Amino acid sequence: MALPANFLEELRVRLPIAAVIGRSVKLTRSGREWKGCCPFHGEKTPSFYVYDDHYHCFGCGEHGDVITFAMKSTGVGFMEAVEDLAAQAGLDVPRPSPQVAQAEAKRAGLSEVLEAALNEYQLWLWGQGGRATLDYLHGRGLTDETIRRFQLGWSGEGRGAIAAALRGQNIKPDQLIEAGLMKQGERGPTDMFFGRVMFPIRDRRGTLISFGGRIIGDGQPKYVNGPETSLFSKRRSLYGLNVARDAVRKGAALIITEGYMDVIALSQAGFGGAVAPLGTALTEDHLKEIWQLTPEPIICFDGDAAGQRAALKTAELALTRLSPERSLKFLRLPPKDDPDSLIKRGGRQAFETELTKAQPLSAVLYRMLKAGQDTTTPEGRARLRQRLLDSANSIPDKMLAAEYRAVLLDSFFADRRAPALGRGVVRGRFGPGPSPVPIPPRMPPDAEVAQLRRARLMLAILLAFPQLIPQVEEFFSRVRLAGPDERLREALHDFVSAEKPLDTESLLTHLRSLGVDEQVRAVQMLAKTELSLLKEASLAEAEKAWWEFYEAMDFSIGALQEQCDEARAFYSANPTDRAALDRLTRYLMLLDRARSGASGEEEF
Ligand code: UTP
Ligand code: MN
Repeated sequence: MALPANFLEELRVRLPIAAVIGRSVKLTRSGREWKGCCPFHGEKTPSFYVYDDHYHCFGCGEHGDVITFAMKSTGVGFMEAVEDLAAQAGLDVPRPSPQVAQAEAKRAGLSEVLEAALNEYQLWLWGQGGRATLDYLHGRGLTDETIRRFQLGWSGEGRGAIAAALRGQNIKPDQLIEAGLMKQGERGPTDMFFGRVMFPIRDRRGTLISFGGRIIGDGQPKYVNGPETSLFSKRRSLYGLNVARDAVRKGAALIITEGYMDVIALSQAGFGGAVAPLGTALTEDHLKEIWQLTPEPIICFDGDAAGQRAALKTAELALTRLSPERSLKFLRLPPKDDPDSLIKRGGRQAFETELTKAQPLSAVLYRMLKAGQDTTTPEGRARLRQRLLDSANSIPDKMLAAEYRAVLLDSFFADRRAPALGRGVVRGRFGPGPSPVPIPPRMPPDAEVAQLRRARLMLAILLAFPQLIPQVEEFFSRVRLAGPDERLREALHDFVSAEKPLDTESLLTHLRSLGVDEQVRAVQMLAKTELSLLKEASLAEAEKAWWEFYEAMDFSIGALQEQCDEARAFYSANPTDRAALDRLTRYLMLLDRARSGASGEEEF
């Protein structure tokens, strides 16, 4: 098959698989995936999942990519399916030609050249001459394991070292130039990289396409990136994408950072979903690539002014492609930090804490657009207001644009009232008046307190319906409770493990014997006022209420995803186990709710 790989790539980008399948199968969002009833076997409850680049049915095991789907659902062969899809995407299928096959072979050849060079760079790093470089990397906090995993190397002293090393493998300087490792100088080819830490850059599929090189210690230029070649396009490539893809599939957050070292430091600290552009601003191609993996990636640029300018540029670019399905989150680090320095100083925990503060685009856009604008004069404010409107209007989705207009203008007017009072215009002229009314913060009521209260109500339901305990135990153990309630939960777990009859009477007897009566009464009291219907509720109603409370809990999505993956793995290994499927379905649903943060399902 001599179709150029980048053609199939283009096809994939133009036709997101969920959109293609969504035409014939009713799909609903399930977190980062879509689900529906499998078109390949009759079913009433959905077990057919569509991911960023493939689908899988947990009922019948069918799976494949967008082309497989087209083939299987219409019964055509590979080429015909490709032609069909190309027509839908408005692309011409390139005639398989000898030239195309040749260009493909050449690219594959160049990648092999790069692999051979990588091999040398790694040998050099771990050999005698690489000592100082290895010390430098250790000094930056990287472990040997990380250095090996990211296949870091050292480019040696230059002066044709790489050409000399590869000569034995019949690799010529011309090929090194084409691969971006050498450049044509006045007196023949010279090295692109020498005396640098080498970072191999791979594409999404893991093919080696270029290198970046960092100077060891201080000096300029700090980083050199490989030049554009037939393999490497900066506009399209993201450092770390091949690794991040797997991590994101397993539930990691996709984090877009600025630099090589940020990606590596994040990964070492357990945040495997990090990527970075390669010395360019984030492009439209980058965004498309990332949005195929996750609907709401997190932009985490450096805390300095340059980082914040880059964040604004990214936000403005994203607006022009925003949809209710695709947005961004922003994480603003302390001014002097990048993810690498933050982790070095405060460890995994420091970044984890920051990560919880990531905010959706809609929440930070006003502040970003206002930064550096003079809003003390009517002219300045009018300019800002125009800017806000222009930004909102750059969103192609009309409904969404209207929502953004509303959000931005709300902030504008709220902001305008506050400083006007503060400036003392009123007080200055008429003497001290009543103190200005503070604008209430746009924050939810104390979420923390609400969570603990809900948790307590869940406890109350279990006290009234102990039969529910075994089936919710695993889930309930992840709910955070206030201290005294915590002891009560432990007592419930003990009760179930003691295999006594699961009725309220014996439960209460058990709890009394443990001396937690007072706590029991407190919980029952709350239930009486807040769950007045509980007394007459049936078991099914109580169960439903319990899960509704559970779904309203604010869990870390990362943790949920991990459990979900585990449940999926278990189900895959035990496909006939009904309980395993129930458990998986439950987790998928919880993830779904947690991500959308609302009830009601949207349709594709
Ligand atoms: P930074 O200077 O923020 O890099 O540039 P960094 O990763 O924090 O560097 P360390 O921690 O000192 O090693 C961010 C990115 O910009 C590109 C590189 O891709 C770098 O990772 N860059 C930076 C260049 O291309 N050339 C340069 O001279 C500097
Ligand atoms: Mn850095």
